[in-house]
Amino acid sequence: MSQKTILITGCSSGIGLAAARSLRARGWRVFASCRNPDDCNRLIAEGFDSPRIELRDAESIRSGLQEVLAATGGKLDALFNNGARGMPGAIEDLPAAGLRDLMESNVIGWHDLTRQVIPIMRAQGHGRIVQNSSVLGYVSMRYRGAYVASKHALEGLTDSMRIELRDTPIHVSLIEPGPITSDMRKNNAAQFFEWIDWENSAFAEDYRNGLVKRFTEKQEGLDPFELPAEAVCKKLIHALEANRPRARYRITKPAHIMNVLRRLLPTSLLDWVIAKA
Ligand SMILES: NC(=O)c1ccc[n+]([C@@H]2O[C@H](COP(=O)([O-])OP(=O)(O)OC[C@H]3O[C@@H](n4cnc5c(N)ncnc54)[C@H](OP(=O)(O)O)[C@@H]3O)[C@@H](O)[C@H]2O)c1
Repeated sequence: MSQKTILITGCSSGIGLAAARSLRARGWRVFASCRNPDDCNRLIAEGFDSPRIELRDAESIRSGLQEVLAATGGKLDALFNNGARGMPGAIEDLPAAGLRDLMESNVIGWHDLTRQVIPIMRAQGHGRIVQNSSVLGYVSMRYRGAYVASKHALEGLTDSMRIELRDTPIHVSLIEPGPITSDMRKNNAAQFFEWIDWENSAFAEDYRNGLVKRFTEKQEGLDPFELPAEAVCKKLIHALEANRPRARYRITKPAHIMNVLRRLLPTSLLDWVIAKA
């Protein structure tokens, strides 16, 4: 049997990197894409194929996928859409240009890549598409509105796509993690300081004692519910290799608890719980 192939976006760190390593260890040929050429070179030195894909750049999506297909003879067994970032800050502090930039990265780029992959999977008669969403794809949280909006949009697109593809041999799954150890906090901090004029905000004091502190001071220990990226890899492997992959994989206790609470509680009570969390 020929080696299975997968394209993963956002492999410079965190879940993407862990997924690339664990799937390779299971015998997959992994195209571990990054947006920064230095990261691509680092992964190539580790023995991966590493096409450059910047999800805000349509040309790099096209050329990155072409590079993969040139290496595989035009086939691709699986796509793991993963590369994304956050942009913490209250909705009223979020510049439209920042929100647009984040949506290009977290939603439009994923959509563009997925649309180009589906015809390949249809033609070869099989395929798996796995979308790395979040607990914030089905509940909301203060100061995370941009990211929440992007993951809710992703959930909507993915649910529609899964229904549309139900009579095809292409399986579509959502992964919905809660807190996972990765570079996300560091990358979120960079986005916050780049886009949010926090000192002139109505929330300045709250930012100073919360987000800014969290971003600038060394934090001891893990979030009590935080799991390593390998917890995501386990579910990803099921989504890719099981005969009957699931539509959704929730990971970490908060992801399970929030899923129950949002079904049971009226909005006002759910808001209270989330505000306290
Ligand atoms: N960590 C968590 O708690 C958590 C929870 C739920 C869901 N997730 C999801 O897990 C996925 C991976 O995040 P992570 O936790 O592993 O964080 P991470 O360590 O920050 O990794 C994010 C990856 O996405 C890449 N990326 C960001 N913007 C991109 C763009 N425009 N084009 C291409 N690549 C881009 C980053 O590349 P650079 O290094 O070049 O920025 C990096 O490789 C994301 O979809 C995230 O929403 C994470």
